[in-house]
Amino acid sequence: MRDTKQTQVHHLAILFSALLISLAVACGANSTPPPPTNTPRPPTPTPEPRPSAAQLAVGKAVFIRVGCVQCHKITGISDNAVSAPSLDDAYHLVINALKSPEYKKSQGKAKTPREFIIESIMEPDAFTYPTCPQGPCVKGTMPNNYNVIIRPDELEPLVTFLLWQGR
Ligand code: HEC
Repeated sequence: MRDTKQTQVHHLAILFSALLISLAVACGANSTPPPPTNTPRPPTPTPEPRPSAAQLAVGKAVFIRVGCVQCHKITGISDNAVSAPSLDDAYHLVINALKSPEYKKSQGKAKTPREFIIESIMEPDAFTYPTCPQGPCVKGTMPNNYNVIIRPDELEPLVTFLLWQGR
């Protein structure tokens, strides 16, 4: 009789600890780590989505229509234009020019690659790019009337097209 009672108590104890363990496991599975408080998050740059071929084609048509092709080479579009910097890798040209001491000393105010290209087109004399294929670039060569030549709806596609040359 005593033995049976002891066994019963023992069984109960096992049952109880099993219950405790499963409870702990269940809680553990459901508990989420507390949200980090005041943890500075590094700004995650949202990658610009690559424009579609159709979007790029619109910009390319503007590049041709308004005559950038007379002076700027882009392979397959204006292979023989050598009086101005090649825009085959316009993206890196812009990135590097923005960081350059020449740009910092100029009247240029652009902070981003996009602003830089818009400024290059609309205020060509704010900054004179230093090196052209045939020697130092000459200030004032680029037409300064694109604000009337380029229609408002043409500027964005043109800038996007240029910003995707070289990447
Ligand atoms: C008559 C020749 C000529 C035409 C047309 C021309 N450019 Fe230029 N471009 C230049 C020369 C020369 C430079 C380098 C000297 C300078 O920066 O002004 C230059 C520089 C640039 C630069 C380098 C950055 C900068 O600000 O100097 C970009 C970008 C540019 N041109 C884009 C264009 C685009 C886009 C068009 C058409 C809307 C265009 N250019 C039309 C001659 C031209």
